Amino acid sequence: MTPAQAQKEISALTEQVNYHTHLYYQLNKSEISDYEFDQLLARLVSLENEFPQFRQPDSPTQRVGGTITKEFETVVHKYPMLSLGNTYSQEELEDFDKRVARGLEGDPYEYFCELKFDGVSISLVYENGVLVRGVTRGDGVRGDNVTNNVKTIRSIPLKITGKNIPPSFEVRGEIFMPKTVFAQLNKEREDIGEERYANARNTAAGTIKMQDSAEVAKRKLDCYAYSLLGVETETHEENIKLLEAWKFNVSQTYKKCRNIAEVLEYILYWEKRRLELPLETDGVVIKVNSLEQQERLGFTAKSPRFAISYKYKAESISTRLNGITYQVGRTGAVTPVAELEPVFLAGTTVKRASLHNANEIARLNLHIGDYVFVEKGGEIIPKVTGVDVTKRTKDTKPVTYIDKCPECGTKLTRIEGEAAHYCPNVTGCPPQIKGRIEHFIQRKAMDIDSLGERTIDQLYKLGFVKTPADLYDLKREHILQLDGFKDKSVTNLLDGIEKSKATPFESVLFAIGIRYVGRTVAEKLARYFKSIDKIKNASLEELLQAPEVGEKIAQSVYEFFRKAENIREIDRMKKAGLQFETNAKEPEKESDILANKSFVISGTFQKYEREQLQEIILKNGGRILSGVSGKLDYLLAGDNMGPSKLEKAQKLGVKIISESDFEKMLAGK
Ligand code: IVH
Repeated sequence: MTPAQAQKEISALTEQVNYHTHLYYQLNKSEISDYEFDQLLARLVSLENEFPQFRQPDSPTQRVGGTITKEFETVVHKYPMLSLGNTYSQEELEDFDKRVARGLEGDPYEYFCELKFDGVSISLVYENGVLVRGVTRGDGVRGDNVTNNVKTIRSIPLKITGKNIPPSFEVRGEIFMPKTVFAQLNKEREDIGEERYANARNTAAGTIKMQDSAEVAKRKLDCYAYSLLGVETETHEENIKLLEAWKFNVSQTYKKCRNIAEVLEYILYWEKRRLELPLETDGVVIKVNSLEQQERLGFTAKSPRFAISYKYKAESISTRLNGITYQVGRTGAVTPVAELEPVFLAGTTVKRASLHNANEIARLNLHIGDYVFVEKGGEIIPKVTGVDVTKRTKDTKPVTYIDKCPECGTKLTRIEGEAAHYCPNVTGCPPQIKGRIEHFIQRKAMDIDSLGERTIDQLYKLGFVKTPADLYDLKREHILQLDGFKDKSVTNLLDGIEKSKATPFESVLFAIGIRYVGRTVAEKLARYFKSIDKIKNASLEELLQAPEVGEKIAQSVYEFFRKAENIREIDRMKKAGLQFETNAKEPEKESDILANKSFVISGTFQKYEREQLQEIILKNGGRILSGVSGKLDYLLAGDNMGPSKLEKAQKLGVKIISESDFEKMLAGK
């Protein structure tokens, strides 16, 4: 292929993939299958690797991340990021309206209403249509440069095309983790024995500041755009329409209102409906629509006078606590659940609520028979927020937490520093046994989709399967004894089990269910150690050398391989033919010439874009840090770099190298 052909194809593929991404993520439509999409993307990746000079600024390949930022650079906002005044009642809103009317001296005005999205605000700076910076709110004046992480969010355009794109503009929006993504993430965390995250907002905030952008990409954040700055328009409504035309994700919940009465209608309209939206919202933002009027109204020290928020009251209801039940998970962790007198709350009947752990029950001082307040937060499961003590009667009894496993009767234990109680009967407690098998067969693990929860339950009850390795000893005559299994479904199940033997090592490592070893950690361990035997024989110190592995994980892995039953289980799986080795490398390595060398790239360069340099460093075994520190080996300095970085590097004795020094280093000179 000639370079010219490659350039043409890269450009066409970029456009195609971006088109389908927008269709899929923003419009919930698809014109091609997932497989076809993956093929297009794979072709683009391979062409870009061969011809990096033709990578487009809006290449969708950036969405998968891969850069590591140790310390985010601080950036001063061009327009400060202010907060909004809050109102909680119709009266307060009418007062706001009066202030607006007075400020505009009798001129007519309109409002524009949006929901108040509960996420993390972000400033997106575009130059010549290309996203150049994503900055967090910070203290409102300066925030953190999180551009690499922001680029992984698929609904944020990397490049705007069309007519009359202003040379420079800024978009403000809210980054959030959709409720379903949050629920799935928590399910995965529970599965590997990690504590659940408390809420979607904090999780989104933590995610956008993660150091590894590839991890951010996996978290599936989304972003709603709600402001546009630096354009010459007359109304906020026009700005919203522009954002839509430029393919930003704009929540289709906004409305222009002619007066405060219509605003109140809007507030009422969304009070319940907002709970069905894919993200959490906690109120409404009311903005004066005319930008000229916005300017006339101006700002107070902290917030604009032309906009305000109305906060919804969290809907809460009181109902009787009939009892507490206890669930035992795969890791033996016990979760208490409040069993409630069914009550209608915000559109659904609530019968159960989560209570987290024994500390939470003690904090609430719960008695069986109490009337408790139940609230629906961002989580799909409602929570108990307090007790209506005025309704407590004499016959209620304080809750005594169970001391024996409700499933197998074993005395529960509590690990120091952890809130949860555990059932220590790892090999004999039914939900732990079945949980391990369910974990083993899940899609991200061995992916045996012909096996479901019900079948596992039957296989366990009939005594055929007690550990994952038992699956590989299953015979036709066993499965025929299960309810609803006939010749064809038996073949299907056996085929699924057989096929799973080819599952790559990293998935097997995740499947065997070492505590704290999630999918990502399993991948890193597999790539680093290459075989189960090397992991098994590694010392604690050696485990700690692997990427992503800290004390907690290292300890857990080390202990896992010191248990005879785990070794036996793995040996049986080895005999069955599962994959316990890999030769997969960190993606597309070219050499190790920069191994153990760390770089900070700063300024602009003659021959390379900054991203290209980053990629070259990573592909050749080097690491990228974003801040200059004593640990840094090289500052790769281009033109126009900031004086502070240079000064710091000189002070710390970090080597400062030029573009051509770097080329020499790569060539091994
Ligand atoms: S406009 C002057 N619109 O609320 C601030 N903000 O308290 C103008 N927010 O930091 C912001 N949804 O993160 C605006 N539809 C919306 C919003 C929204 C959520 C957040 C934003 C801001 C905070 C203001």
